[in-house]
Amino acid sequence: MAYADLREWLNALEGAGDLLQIGAEVHWDREIGAITRLAFSEGGPALLFENITGHRDTISTRLFTGGLATYARVAQAMGLPRQTHYRDLVNEYRQRLKTPMPFREVATGPVKENILLGDAVDLYQFPVPRWHHRDGGRYIVTFAGVVSRDPDSGVLNVGVYRGQVLNKHTIGFLLIGGQHIGQHFIKHQRRGEPMPVAVVLGWDPMLPFIASAPVPAHVSEYDVMGAMRGEATDVVRCETVDLLVPATAEIVLEGQIGTDPSTFMMEGPFGEYTGYYGGLESLKPAMDVTCITHRNDPILRGTLEGTLPGMLNENSVTSAIQRAAVAWSILDTNGVPGVVDVCVHPVTNGTNIVVAIKKFYRGHAKQVAAALWGTGASQQRYKHVMVVDDDIDIHDYAALDWALAYRFNAGENDLVIFPGMIGSPLDPSTRAEDNDVRRFGTGKWNRVLFDCTINWEFEPQEKWDGERYPPTVHLAQEDEDNVRRRWKEYGFKQELTHSAVKRGARD
Ligand SMILES: Cc1cc2nc3c(=O)[nH]c(=O)nc-3n(C[C@H](O)[C@H](O)[C@H](O)COP(=O)(O)O)c2cc1C
Repeated sequence: MAYADLREWLNALEGAGDLLQIGAEVHWDREIGAITRLAFSEGGPALLFENITGHRDTISTRLFTGGLATYARVAQAMGLPRQTHYRDLVNEYRQRLKTPMPFREVATGPVKENILLGDAVDLYQFPVPRWHHRDGGRYIVTFAGVVSRDPDSGVLNVGVYRGQVLNKHTIGFLLIGGQHIGQHFIKHQRRGEPMPVAVVLGWDPMLPFIASAPVPAHVSEYDVMGAMRGEATDVVRCETVDLLVPATAEIVLEGQIGTDPSTFMMEGPFGEYTGYYGGLESLKPAMDVTCITHRNDPILRGTLEGTLPGMLNENSVTSAIQRAAVAWSILDTNGVPGVVDVCVHPVTNGTNIVVAIKKFYRGHAKQVAAALWGTGASQQRYKHVMVVDDDIDIHDYAALDWALAYRFNAGENDLVIFPGMIGSPLDPSTRAEDNDVRRFGTGKWNRVLFDCTINWEFEPQEKWDGERYPPTVHLAQEDEDNVRRRWKEYGFKQELTHSAVKRGARD
């Protein structure tokens, strides 16, 4: 199931007829972003750009994107049939999460084929796109694993955090206090020292999939990648920092992020996951790249953000799976009973989440929301939690709207607002001053629970078969059978192919 490296993954996509190698010359400035956007909008294949203006003779000449932009590709990346349903992807992810597989340190690997130090470090040797026309510059870190170490526990974290090329050896980062790298940053800052980091560009597709997922702080993403791949992650030691990176990665950037605010540099804006430009131009922490290691003829990995609403991208597709699976696993491990399904609709990237429960008691929906909001996983996620009964198909927007219409009553405590919580600083519905990461460490959210389950304070009614709600309206089975039998006799030319209504739970 595991892909040894990015190249094996590209071969697999090619084998599935789901990779387009673009040999025509394309410009890194906006053209790659525009092509990717149009390709995503058509549900097109993953893209390997092979002829990029100004990069015919640079260290890296190729850029790969879109490898996880559809559920079929994610299924293939997980070693599952490409037609696997979203619901099964979520469940499989949840199962695999249970058994992290420790990473293995090995002596060396292809990522050490080339080692560049000092003046040889030049980020312009890589075909980095300026993805959107209002972006502040070229973003080299979009779907890469940024590795840092918790200075207290020693745990290695791997996260996806955006990074802009500021000059030939400097990358500006959007670091949010609530994220694990943000916490490492604060710890290093309190010790008065810079933070060592390594950026991994291009490896097994599980790298960006897991690095962008909420993994608990005491667990290394490398161990979760092992669990997802069914094979331990082989890592090698970096040259200039005390960090570990996959031995078969394409490119690794090593260096330090200064924690002294006087070293911060201007970064942003960037077309963000919300569909808006976010994290506008401001002073942000900057990485001084001290070393680059790379394979021969390395392939750069990137992704396009800012496509929502209207078209999905790698972030929205992967978020829909991992943020639902992680939420479900949080509910399981925290003793919230009766969860039957969890769904993150990809257009919300996990900002909204829907949970279906077989209700056990009054307050059950509130317990769901409280459990989610109390965890580190809720940073940038789960702003709006909607809880429905198990007869609602949470994958169907119309069913959710119906539940909101008739099972929700704001005057009956079905609306709960948890104000002033941690939130995404990229959410434009929060006032700009409340999204000041340097001042507050994170954004500010007023989180909302929509309890769309049947109100257990309503008295059960004998006339309604002992239920709290009246029966739903539908055809009695015998009436439907009778009419089906005589259908042609009524003069209808067309055959009846499906049932007129879903049968109610009480039949
Ligand atoms: C394409 C992409 C870009 C992202 N950019 C950022 C970012 O700039 N800053 C950030 O805090 N999170 C960003 N995220 C979200 C984090 O990767 C995600 O919240 C992850 O869980 C963080 O890892 P951590 O939980 O180990 O901190 C991005 C995710 C994706 C898929």
